[in-house]
Amino acid sequence: MSELGHIDSRLLADRPRHIAIIMDGNGRWARARGLPRPAGHREGVKAVRRVVEACRQNGIEALTLFAFSSENWRRPRTEVKLLMDLFISTLKREVRDLHANGVRVRFIGDRTAFSPRLQQLMDETEALTGGNEGLTLAIAANYGGRWDLARAARRLAEQVAAGALDPAGIDPDRLGREVSLADLPEPDLFIRTGGEQRISNFLLWQLAYTELYFTDILWPDFDQDRLAEALAWFAGRQRRFGCTGEQVEQLKGA
Ligand code: IPE
Ligand code: IPE
Ligand code: MG
Repeated sequence: MSELGHIDSRLLADRPRHIAIIMDGNGRWARARGLPRPAGHREGVKAVRRVVEACRQNGIEALTLFAFSSENWRRPRTEVKLLMDLFISTLKREVRDLHANGVRVRFIGDRTAFSPRLQQLMDETEALTGGNEGLTLAIAANYGGRWDLARAARRLAEQVAAGALDPAGIDPDRLGREVSLADLPEPDLFIRTGGEQRISNFLLWQLAYTELYFTDILWPDFDQDRLAEALAWFAGRQRRFGCTGEQVEQLKGA
């Protein structure tokens, strides 16, 4: 067996199994057209639809989309309200199609901050689509990477307090089982639109070895051709996971 062990498949794959996207640039897209910010958010929903479809067609297993960060509450109240309303209306409108297409929808983040109506809609969507075996679509809403890690730590602490876990048994593998998306392959490809090169408290743990792709394209302009560009870029990366390039070449040639 190769000394590279269980990471072999991630080294060798030229297509990502899991893509995580920070959908940024809606506001600037609108401003560039002399439109109010909500117009950008509405146009952004269309891009979501296009990208979900493109991922299905490319045989991607999982797509995680950053829809609302734990810091986005700092925006003007009217914008937060607009985003919540858009979230609800979009879910209601799209869930049937997603379900018909075999998409398994789930949400990550602290949903207790949302209205009871939205929480119920999220629960119903997960229940309806939970048995589907096509694309897994994870929507990060009121999500923060630090929240995710703090929650994982709290869960472990609870188990220790209950006498069910020895602190000495807490290692990266054990902690990694408590964070969001632990049951999915780790993201292989991260995409951020809108030109900023930062993580903005997205998946801090899960992105440890993800390939990072930044594009100036504003999210409402993102489509299947832009995704194809990102996939082509990904296919050209050499992932090493700490190994040398020579080791990777040898493995690929084997
Ligand atoms: C991303 O677009 C959408 C959300 C954060 C909800 P922005 O609204 O951040 O757009 P810009 O960055 O202002 O252009
Ligand atoms: C990140 O975008 C959050 C989402 C896309 C939902 P932001 O626009 O909020 O990020 P910052 O504030 O510019 O870092
Ligand atoms: Mg932004």
